[in-house]
Amino acid sequence: MRLIMLGAPGAGKGTQAKKIAEKYSIPHISTGDIFRANIKNGTELGKKAKTYMDQGLLVPDELVCDLVVDRVGQPDCEKGYVLDGFPRTIPQAESLDAALKAVGSKIDYAIDVDVPDENIISRMSGRRACLKCGATYHLKYAAPKKEGVCDTCGEALVLREDDKPETVQKRLNVYHEQTQPLIDYYTKAEILVTVDGTKDMEEVFQAITEILDK
Ligand code: AP5
Ligand code: MG
Ligand code: ZN
Repeated sequence: MRLIMLGAPGAGKGTQAKKIAEKYSIPHISTGDIFRANIKNGTELGKKAKTYMDQGLLVPDELVCDLVVDRVGQPDCEKGYVLDGFPRTIPQAESLDAALKAVGSKIDYAIDVDVPDENIISRMSGRRACLKCGATYHLKYAAPKKEGVCDTCGEALVLREDDKPETVQKRLNVYHEQTQPLIDYYTKAEILVTVDGTKDMEEVFQAITEILDK
């Protein structure tokens, strides 16, 4: 099962992708998590990505495409994967399609987690992230067992640099301009499915599994 998660920043792509990955035993590939891990480890890629991410801008396509194409070619992706945060532009989608076509593969579903802008800003201010293992929490909707500490790995939780309200607004604008056109792109490809992302996390997940298990 090869899946793409679409949706605005904070729509719950990562939350749902993790649950999908667990249920169907496929890798969860988040380009945002990959960049954040690189920033934390001080790599060249991390240094380049950080200047864009902190401003709420997209990292240039050429820094993203090869990385993902390479990743989905790894042996653990043979049975499928869930892509979270990629593609995010039409050129990224085209480059993924071309790379998959070349090896006789294709995406099965692009799942759009639909949440209006009004809900996003409040959601983001409550998010806390673990930069070590990629786990995500929410002060109100998904609190960690111990305040400020990751349940999975024990690392201190942080507010992401790009989750400040002014940067969130910028990311929403970037989403509408550059990523939303993918909704049309995957509608035309007849693989788009939409779920209501304003429901609680379990209800959203149930809606997704109903589609995948059909
Ligand atoms: P990325 O990390 O992908 O961020 P994003 O797309 O902005 O999305 P988020 O991770 O912020 O939100 P999410 O949809 O995963 O929501 P979550 O599940 O955490 O990218 C960051 C940056 O990296 C980009 O801005 C860009 O610079 C760069 N980048 C990454 N990929 C790129 C690419 N392909 N090309 C170019 N640049 C790229 O949920 C949000 C919060 O809400 C959490 O606290 C969660 O607990 C809570 N929540 C989730 N679901 C619900 C629910 N149903 N009800 C209540 N609360 C909920
Ligand atoms: Mg995410
Ligand atoms: Zn952790």
